[in-house]
Amino acid sequence: MESFGTSGQPGPRTGFRIEEAHAVTPELIDTLMEIDLQTFSESTFSEYAAAAMLRNGHVYLLSFGDQVIGTCVTMRCWDRPNEAMILSMGIKPGWRGQGLGQHFIRGVLQKLRQRGLRSACLYVSTDNRRAIKVYEDVGFVVVERGVGVSFDRSELNLLRVTFQESQPVIELS
Ligand SMILES: CC(C)(COP(=O)(O)OP(=O)(O)OC[C@H]1O[C@@H](n2cnc3c(N)ncnc32)[C@H](O)[C@@H]1OP(=O)(O)O)[C@@H](O)C(=O)NCCC(=O)NCCS
Repeated sequence: MESFGTSGQPGPRTGFRIEEAHAVTPELIDTLMEIDLQTFSESTFSEYAAAAMLRNGHVYLLSFGDQVIGTCVTMRCWDRPNEAMILSMGIKPGWRGQGLGQHFIRGVLQKLRQRGLRSACLYVSTDNRRAIKVYEDVGFVVVERGVGVSFDRSELNLLRVTFQESQPVIELS
């Protein structure tokens, strides 16, 4: 298990770990459901979907001690196979606003890059100023505006970060 500093390198945030979930357990499904509920004020996926995310996607956990305090669900994009989609990212309420969001996303991006992925994308509500700040600070840029509506009817933008410009993202038609 590794810990990462805000530079994405192993570093100063001692006690916090970023690791990939490797098992589908009832506890992890509960944690994903709990953080989803705390993120969006209502459940946006079922237990069945949570198990599928754990089994078929890559789920990253931010932990402190033996407590999981954040989750980040990623999937490989169907039409851009070397791009990861960040489906959801959330930190438990008492842990927000301390720089952990940026620490977490940097660590996740580093792990995706190590897996050979070339870029990552996500949808974020235009109202979610805090999340947008975190994503833009680590290099995400808006690539499409008004691409849909969120569960709460707010507008969504598509953001993307490319890891290495020299290695193009493959697009399948
Ligand atoms: C989004 C989230 C993961 C960010 O994690 P975090 O630990 O709270 O974020 P950080 O403390 O690393 O950084 C927050 C940044 O936003 C800034 N910020 C906070 N509120 C803001 C606002 N209303 N407008 C603009 N910037 C804001 C902070 O000043 C900070 O910037 P700084 O690093 O320059 O000081 C976390 O707040 C969360 O789980 N929120 C609910 C779930 C959610 O919205 N997930 C994203 C769905 S796409």
